[in-house]
Amino acid sequence: MIANVSGNHIAVGLTGLGFYAPERVLTNEDLAAMVDTSDEWITTRTGIKERRIAEPEQAASDLALPAARRALEQAGVTAEELDLVVVATATPDMLFPATAAILADELGATRAAAYDLLAGCTGFVYALSQVYGAVAAGLSRRALIVGAEVLSKITNWQDRSTCILFGDGAGAAVVQPITAGGIVGFELGADGSGGLDLCVPAGGSRRPVSPDVLEQELQFIKMNGAEVFRFATRVMVSSAEELLAACDATVEDVDLYVPHQANKRIVDHVVRNLGLDPEKVLMNIDRYGNTSSASIPICLAEAQADGLLQEGTRVLISAVGAGLTWGSVYLTWTTRGEE
Ligand code: COA
Repeated sequence: MIANVSGNHIAVGLTGLGFYAPERVLTNEDLAAMVDTSDEWITTRTGIKERRIAEPEQAASDLALPAARRALEQAGVTAEELDLVVVATATPDMLFPATAAILADELGATRAAAYDLLAGCTGFVYALSQVYGAVAAGLSRRALIVGAEVLSKITNWQDRSTCILFGDGAGAAVVQPITAGGIVGFELGADGSGGLDLCVPAGGSRRPVSPDVLEQELQFIKMNGAEVFRFATRVMVSSAEELLAACDATVEDVDLYVPHQANKRIVDHVVRNLGLDPEKVLMNIDRYGNTSSASIPICLAEAQADGLLQEGTRVLISAVGAGLTWGSVYLTWTTRGEE
């Protein structure tokens, strides 16, 4: 689906950002002591140097909570004022209840509807589009979206082709009506025919957990890396191009490009193909690895702390992930809440 929403009656923006990354750092050298790999291989193939790993007792909601509190504080919104909480995650605390409901309770968001959304690494962009719709339609006035992942719990630490990629973290944003600017358009898609190229085969209703599942290690991430690489480089380019065209914009108009942090080589390829100035590209994969739905809000929060998000900054965000899914959003940065 694709839309230029700039003409809509209610302008919608991100009025507060926050993120949390667990303290424990796992370096490439640490990984080289666990599987047959090297810092050199991981760095040149992915751009990753280290990633954060949650403590055994930490679940997705534990990472989401501090990120959400920071976003609320920045937006000047209290938890009681929230009417919607959406958590994008592929690693919920439990299959149900939703991590969003757990988070809403911990925050004290007693007036909010709360649900989880599963779109893999595209989860934050999908959540933003859903919540955009609710706010633009007048259904929600103060919404919170969070991308929160504890991928370390579904990673096979003996599989060198996947364990080098992922990290844990959470990023949050408050979404509200604003006076002007804000979200300009979305482009989203899914191709389920490639779903098995990036999946957790068991633990759902197709293959419930059983001794057989555990023996075959089907409770962990399985990935066809080369196929996902090809898919990602293709759709991140086409999605951005189609969205910019729908928004009557070109790559020259983009001040800041925030790509999902999957692999630096994927991003380099996309940037080259789009003809984007590499100076405009935000990367933090070296420090966090791929944190799935948390990667974009973590990038945004860090960009803001670094002064890169000013009133009027035009931001292009693109993501790709399990599903297979993809999505882009184009927006003009403004935090001026509605008067
Ligand atoms: N350390 C050392 N060697 C490794 C390795 C590791 N961690 N992982 C794989 N290799 C080996 C392979 O076994 C293979 O060896 P072979 O040639 O003897 O068979 C060789 O390195 C090349 O493997 P290949 O899979 O072709 O590497 P690649 O350049 O495609 O890089 C990925 C692998 C996973 C980094 C890359 O495919 C990728 O990033 N894909 C996208 C994944 C992704 O982003 N997923 C999330 C999307 S949201």
